[in-house]
Amino acid sequence: MKVAIIGQGYVGLTIAAFAAEFYEVIGFDKNSKVVEKLNQGISHIEGVESSLLTKWITQGNYVATTSGSDISNSDIVVIAVPTPLTKDRKPDLSFIESACRTIGENIESSTLVINESTSFPGTVRNYIKPMIEKYSNSQTQHLYAISPERVDPGRGDFNQKNTPRLYSGLTPEATIRTRDFYSKFCDNLVEVSSPEVAEAAKLFENTFRQVNIALVNEFAQISNALGIDVYETLSAANTKPYGFMKFTPSAGVGGHCIPVDPTYLAAIAEEHGAPSSFIRLANEVNLEMSKYIVKRVTDDNAGTLQGKNVLIVGVAYKPNVADVRETAAELVIEHLREKGANVSWHDDVVGNWKGDSSAPLYSSDIAIVVTKHDSVDEKKILNCAPYVFDTTGAVKGAKGL
Ligand SMILES: NC(=O)c1ccc[n+]([C@@H]2O[C@H](COP(=O)([O-])OP(=O)(O)OC[C@H]3O[C@@H](n4cnc5c(N)ncnc54)[C@H](O)[C@@H]3O)[C@@H](O)[C@H]2O)c1
Repeated sequence: MKVAIIGQGYVGLTIAAFAAEFYEVIGFDKNSKVVEKLNQGISHIEGVESSLLTKWITQGNYVATTSGSDISNSDIVVIAVPTPLTKDRKPDLSFIESACRTIGENIESSTLVINESTSFPGTVRNYIKPMIEKYSNSQTQHLYAISPERVDPGRGDFNQKNTPRLYSGLTPEATIRTRDFYSKFCDNLVEVSSPEVAEAAKLFENTFRQVNIALVNEFAQISNALGIDVYETLSAANTKPYGFMKFTPSAGVGGHCIPVDPTYLAAIAEEHGAPSSFIRLANEVNLEMSKYIVKRVTDDNAGTLQGKNVLIVGVAYKPNVADVRETAAELVIEHLREKGANVSWHDDVVGNWKGDSSAPLYSSDIAIVVTKHDSVDEKKILNCAPYVFDTTGAVKGAKGL
């Protein structure tokens, strides 16, 4: 069976690596540099080993391509392209539209199209299906389904095999075939009654996290005002065996999911006249954390950062990944520069970002830890500046939230 996966990023390549054990996989991506590297057996995604990729390529089970015609006789097509926000923070389905165009223009016989990109309820039924039909040259009817992705890049304990996967088709046949496809490499498949339930569940999972992160970020500020240690308090609350789930404060939320997905839910809520005040408020609180941190650092440094050399330690959006999308470090740096600080950053996992390279981990006036990768030595962080502010709770002995 031939499976085409549109988009070879965090989600698409991860799926490809699992599916290639059982299917002939074609990884379609618009980015020719990514495709070139993948065909050399070089993975750009944490959790997908280059050696595994090489194995699938050698066995003839995986090939990457930029050419739409290569997917023409696929039995299954999986969509795994970005679903970001526009500049005015509205859902941006342009990548999905482009993927639909590739499918419509190239697939001639009936296939199963599964969407894994995160979007609002109704995307498969009211957007993907009509869009593919619009671009299709033939009258062929395809099957459509959704199986929202839950991959957590860089995570060791949960992967495609042991993370329960939701799925649902637009028709019973689409549902059955979707189950058959994933059952080869996923142990726990959870069928829901409609694609809309699966799409909404994915958005609610990430909104749940966004709101709880905002709550704990606000609680960190309350704790500090009261002179109470927030981490000790959270650990104390976490001894309750039921009705509590521990979240920890941070400089904000980053990545392609938590800062983005809830806004998809808010947008569709607004379209239907339903409220979304929690989502808006949580966004606001999380975005304001960067300002709060810069204020705390300024207050601790005689009220001014003018001319101070400030080193940001860790600019990835979370530990042990190179992903900088929506990273909280960006806003922290912006606010520091507004205060007249000379800002550089250290992150050897990221390496290069916005035209700059990772700076060495030493000789600064102030260091602010935004993300603590496992590979970064705590002692080196403490020694890199006379004043170290840690937003992660991972560096013992530093000032912190
Ligand atoms: N990253 C995560 O942890 C994660 C987890 C769950 C769900 N998701 C969702 O999965 C989707 C994909 O996210 P990602 O993190 O894999 O993105 P990504 O940026 O890592 O990868 C997307 C890939 O798609 C390619 N692409 C863009 N438009 C294309 C097109 N029209 N045709 C072919 N390729 C195209 C890009 O070049 C890129 O390589 C998003 O909807 C996201 O919300 C992501």
